Amino acid sequence: MLVTLLAAGGCSRQPSGSPGAESTAAAIIPKPVAVESRSGTFEFNRDTKIVAQPAAASEARLLAGALRVATGFPFDVVEADKGAENAVFLGLDPALTRLGTEGYILEVTPRQVTIQAPTAAGAFYGAQSLRQLLPAAAFSSTPQEGAAWSVACVRIEDYPRFQWRGALLDVARHFMPKETVLKFIDALAIQKMNRLQLHLTDDQGWRIEIKKYPKLTEIGSKRKETRVGLENEKRGFDGKPHGGFYSQADIREMVKYAEERHVTLVPEIEMPGHAQAAIAAYPELGNTGEKLEVSTMWGVHKNVFNANESTIKFLQDVLTEVLDLFPSQFIHVGGDEVPLDQWKASKQAQARMKELGLKEEVQLHGYIIRRMDDFLRSKGRRLVGWDEILEGGVDQTAVVMSWRGSKGGITAAKAGHDVIMAPNTHTYFDYYQAKGPDEPLAIGGFVPLEMVYGFDPIPSEFSPAEAGRILGAQGQLWTEYIATQDYLEYMAFPRLTALAEVAWTPAERKDYQDFTARLREHEKRLDNLGVKYRPSAGR
Ligand code: ACM
Repeated sequence: MLVTLLAAGGCSRQPSGSPGAESTAAAIIPKPVAVESRSGTFEFNRDTKIVAQPAAASEARLLAGALRVATGFPFDVVEADKGAENAVFLGLDPALTRLGTEGYILEVTPRQVTIQAPTAAGAFYGAQSLRQLLPAAAFSSTPQEGAAWSVACVRIEDYPRFQWRGALLDVARHFMPKETVLKFIDALAIQKMNRLQLHLTDDQGWRIEIKKYPKLTEIGSKRKETRVGLENEKRGFDGKPHGGFYSQADIREMVKYAEERHVTLVPEIEMPGHAQAAIAAYPELGNTGEKLEVSTMWGVHKNVFNANESTIKFLQDVLTEVLDLFPSQFIHVGGDEVPLDQWKASKQAQARMKELGLKEEVQLHGYIIRRMDDFLRSKGRRLVGWDEILEGGVDQTAVVMSWRGSKGGITAAKAGHDVIMAPNTHTYFDYYQAKGPDEPLAIGGFVPLEMVYGFDPIPSEFSPAEAGRILGAQGQLWTEYIATQDYLEYMAFPRLTALAEVAWTPAERKDYQDFTARLREHEKRLDNLGVKYRPSAGR
């Protein structure tokens, strides 16, 4: 599509074979759609200003803030309609519709840097590319004496392949403090990723304050101890309490921080399975009346929500507070791994099925999900669920997140659903990434970097119409075995870096060798951000 490059003034075409510009420009991750190197450089100095139209002023301030400390330059932000000499100009041009809603044009000439985009998101991404054109030291949060703050002249025209470039962070199995999440958002944003799904509830913990149901966090956010090692090894427990949750003020802070970086936080409230922490807080939500504890073990649990009208009301009340906190159009309700045993054994569940005219227990699962779907649609939102939601039947407008390989996603897209590809085969980053004896304990599996990079979210047999239903791809950080920020970052990067390129770069522009060469530069950026990625050279 967009391979035509416009001629532009300021820099002449770079003679072929000339070093510098090409290699620096090529170190951008994810790789842009089109990069044209030019001769000359733009030199940043203490008088360089960031000039922005008011609609891109927030992006300009973030850019100035990102560059100020390392360079020691003041980077005054000036609101104006036009660029100036010795300035980085961020301008919005709604006529640039060919760039979609997130694209940008970045042009570096010896006199000025210009970022033009149809939207503020595009301006933000142009600024991220500019940061990556600078030496990696620009990402440091301490002054970097003696660095050369110059950028080779270039013209980049760029836009994403997919609208959903996501990561999932499981804050239920191990709670991650707000500061860890904010740092994670920063690392996603520099890679032009734009969704962070927060897995907020599960058997082992409820992590979001719900004002109407205080016991969800008073009781549900704490467990007395945690299984040591793999679940099936039955090696006992650590004997230490675990807990934590986000207040509504914390959530609002994270949402705002993410929004400024054009990352949408997507809340996931699990139902009807993975519900033990909620049932421990409010036993009437379960099927047995038994007083449960917040789970200390991993694996699939049989304690699922009942389908009583009072429980439907509870779930919709919870979602009401969630919708108030999260502006995301997409709201995830889980739906995965729901054992039917308790509904089979429960007189109440059987009576409910009869009342609803349902023959099989799996239809009760479908009923609960459809009630949530109706509710969310009435509020102008869209339900997202794991691929199991197909089994109980759900409206075509529901979005299916394919995790058991790509199979569910293929079925869903063919049935007319929008789909997010999150297959365990390629995007489960709680799986091992290397086979060496030094790798820290992981849940199992094997998803090395090259496998992530090679993933194509669009199955080869898809028609163009089916391909259009793939919203994008997402990398999963389930945290049964990931208890710390350092280990989270080790498992997440660089696999999320590879996934960023999967989700942004045109398939025909991808090349693993070229990616690994650029990754060496990107590792230096992550070093400067203090992100503890797994080095390509190994541990
Ligand atoms: C999942 O991994 N159960 C979505």
